[in-house]
Amino acid sequence: MAGPGFQGHPAGPLPLLLLLLLLLLPQALPEGPLVFVAVVFRHGDRAPLASYPTDPHKEAISTLWPRGLGQLTPEGVLQQLELGRFLRSRYEDFLSPKYQREEVYVRSTDFDRTLESAQANLAGLFSEAAPGGPEAAWRPIPVHTVPVTEDKLLRFPTRSCPRYHELLREATEAAEYQTALEGWTDFLIHLENFTGLSLVGEPLRRAWKVLDTLMCQQAHGLALPSWASPDVLRTLAQISALDIGAHVGPPRAAEKAQLTGAPPSRPPGILLDAILANFSRAQRLGLPLKMVMYSAHDSTLLALQGALGLYDGHTPPYAACLGFEFRRRLGDPEQDAGNVTISLFYRNDSASRPLSLSLPGCPGPCPLGRFRQLTAQARPPIHGVPCHSSREPPALAAPVVPLLGGAVAVLAALSVGLGLLAWRPSCLHTWEDPV
Ligand SMILES: *[C@@H]1O[C@H](CO)[C@@H](O)[C@H](O)[C@H]1NC(C)=O
Ligand SMILES: *[C@@H]1O[C@H](CO)[C@@H](O)[C@H](O)[C@H]1NC(C)=O
Ligand SMILES: *[C@@H]1O[C@H](CO)[C@@H](O)[C@H](O)[C@H]1NC(C)=O
Ligand SMILES: *[C@@H]1O[C@H](CO)[C@@H](O)[C@H](O)[C@H]1NC(C)=O
Repeated sequence: MAGPGFQGHPAGPLPLLLLLLLLLLPQALPEGPLVFVAVVFRHGDRAPLASYPTDPHKEAISTLWPRGLGQLTPEGVLQQLELGRFLRSRYEDFLSPKYQREEVYVRSTDFDRTLESAQANLAGLFSEAAPGGPEAAWRPIPVHTVPVTEDKLLRFPTRSCPRYHELLREATEAAEYQTALEGWTDFLIHLENFTGLSLVGEPLRRAWKVLDTLMCQQAHGLALPSWASPDVLRTLAQISALDIGAHVGPPRAAEKAQLTGAPPSRPPGILLDAILANFSRAQRLGLPLKMVMYSAHDSTLLALQGALGLYDGHTPPYAACLGFEFRRRLGDPEQDAGNVTISLFYRNDSASRPLSLSLPGCPGPCPLGRFRQLTAQARPPIHGVPCHSSREPPALAAPVVPLLGGAVAVLAALSVGLGLLAWRPSCLHTWEDPV
């Protein structure tokens, strides 16, 4: 009989070899211990934002969506609870078992559905906030927000930016836009008849709302009216894309993107800034902050993906979550500024493991210095761009920054599915939406 540990023994050379291989497989840069995490997620499943006069399900709104239009549904709550549990299992060894206010900071946009989503998520993440426990041990977890009009993280240029409106007008008066619009006039006339809405000559946002209603109803198994064929849905999506394209796309897409960086509103890149700033502040001051959570919208995720050059052509589903994991770097601290790497994950499917993403140009865990460098162009210039001086030459017009271009493409591609959500009320006053 062979001695222990040798041939015939299950823990023989083959597993050892495998182990070695496994050790060698990851990139040269070894992953150190986790020091900080930022997660940005989309709210859970929600009701449609609006109805339309001939909506066959109109009378049933209060039974179909008891909480009201635009609100998180029970499915949405469960999706967030599940996401919170996932975060708990992922960070079991990192976060304290119980919520510590210095450790975790939670911020949401000021919408019922994102606020509720954050709370449901936290109920999955912290057992003392979970449903079903003993009452005396129950502790809700605070969620921070700011009024929509003051939300600097997720907002779009408003009336306060004349230059932006100039650019918007330029886009909507462009021949391409007008031609497209004319091509859809017949469609819109028919749609007016079908929906009882006035659509021709109105903001295209209205057509998007019809699409949103139909898509939500479909997702909840409701029968759509016979006119709402796949073709009609597709055309509605194209119309919405035209609208979004005018707001964020060419002409002068780069200037538009930069303009959104001028106070008081900020561009999508600002969230990336906030995350990096949250981390470096914690490092600088030696704070015990371990995690920041942002509860937001699909557009938030799309813009972030665009800013990172990681847009995948898919609209983030409900409760999709993009994570930034900061780890202490092991070895070779001189080569890059900072001793920290960032790894990204994207969880867009609760049934499978989250995807690991790499920043283009930085495979594997990315050294923080390099990460900053690669994303610099997608973040706003420190002093912003003149917003109010409508005749001043654009400060940053010259290079169309590829990453920003990506973000714009993302937004223009928002036509698909439910993707248009967040450009909505939170963002654009020009899209006047009383949600
Ligand atoms: C409007 O709808 C009605 C009834 O559904 C139909 O009879 C009429 O032809 C429609 N008109 C147009 C312009 O589509
Ligand atoms: C994180 O950054 C946001 C945006 O700058 C800020 O409002 C928030 O207070 C920061 N949170 C922490 C814990 O640093
Ligand atoms: C998740 O993202 C991956 C990669 O971008 C994509 O292939 C997949 O279809 C997405 N899944 C869902 C459910 O959106
Ligand atoms: C990097 O390492 C140095 C020396 O070990 C340390 O003083 C510094 O705080 C570290 N920086 C970060 C960002 O961890």
